[in-house]
Amino acid sequence: MKTNIVILLSIVTLVNGCPEYCEDIKKDYIPESCTCQNRRIRCVAIDDVDLDSLFSYIADGIPYGTREYESFELESSYITTLGTSAFHGLLFKQFIFTSCSKLTCISPTAFMGQKSTTIFMAENTPFSSPVTATCDLFSALSTLTNVNQINIVNHKIPQIPNNAFNDKMGVLANLRTIDLHSTGSLGTIISVGKNAFSTLLNLNMVNLSNQKIVAIGDSAFQFPRANWDRITINLEHNNLNGCRFGSHVFPTNKVTKLMLAGNMDLTFLPDGAFYDFFEERGHDRNTCDMLGIPMDIDQHNMWLVDNKGPMKLDQKLLNAMGKDGIPLLKHTHKQMDVPPLKPC
Ligand SMILES: *[C@@H]1O[C@H](CO)[C@@H](O)[C@H](O)[C@H]1NC(C)=O
Repeated sequence: MKTNIVILLSIVTLVNGCPEYCEDIKKDYIPESCTCQNRRIRCVAIDDVDLDSLFSYIADGIPYGTREYESFELESSYITTLGTSAFHGLLFKQFIFTSCSKLTCISPTAFMGQKSTTIFMAENTPFSSPVTATCDLFSALSTLTNVNQINIVNHKIPQIPNNAFNDKMGVLANLRTIDLHSTGSLGTIISVGKNAFSTLLNLNMVNLSNQKIVAIGDSAFQFPRANWDRITINLEHNNLNGCRFGSHVFPTNKVTKLMLAGNMDLTFLPDGAFYDFFEERGHDRNTCDMLGIPMDIDQHNMWLVDNKGPMKLDQKLLNAMGKDGIPLLKHTHKQMDVPPLKPC
């Protein structure tokens, strides 16, 4: 008999297509600032809204991790933290944070078990806490095992830590786009840690433009298990410095479009970081665009001139102009054989 009821309920659910998970929430129990409509839970609050009670009320009596909503949308200038298991096992296909101007701290387990999430979006929301045991944005994002795109625009993230995207809960095999750009000169990211993106097999766009990135650690954009897909890495308008690169920073097994324009202090490309990126590897060419940067005519860039032919650099190193107004690759070995003014 019981099985019959279960089967009957399943059929009803199937026939209806989408079960309406908002109807069984009593209006009296949800804060005035929140609504549930078309399977979207949305809270727009200038005052405190107790998300913990909200979600524990909605989740009451529902087996953990079985109810899926289209989205959770939050716009709040009050909430500072998303704590451990903030959603009480309710699943969301999308998270959308808009102008959550005080939201600085995301618990590393805030999104644990959110296997339905494909889109994570935030705008004008700081996520500014340094990494601690209780606040760790990137560890939290790494638990979104089916996420497709992460767009966090106009944030105040201080840095991208070493191994930012880990695969402890499984590889984020669907993650294609990570967009952390800022508009204007508002960006705050000062560095990209070692192996920050290395686990992301299928990543094809990283946008870190308009930040304050000075340093990039070893293998930050290396994908040891990757295929020959294409990837665009936009690092335009940062404070990159040739002395502050780790080794083997960029992909060698994806066809890469590397955008470096507007890094006015990036006057040379260190071979430890770029040599393998420029090597001929029998696939479409990697490119690196240096538009607008006055490059040093000295030993720092001599390896580029020396390898121009074998590496086919005139098709890979784009818009590389010397400080003297002559394209970098037009110089001779002898012209480059000058000790750098500022050694590292
Ligand atoms: C990256 O961000 C910049 C703004 O900083 C924007 O102009 C650009 O279209 C974005 N996308 C890509 C793929 O570079």
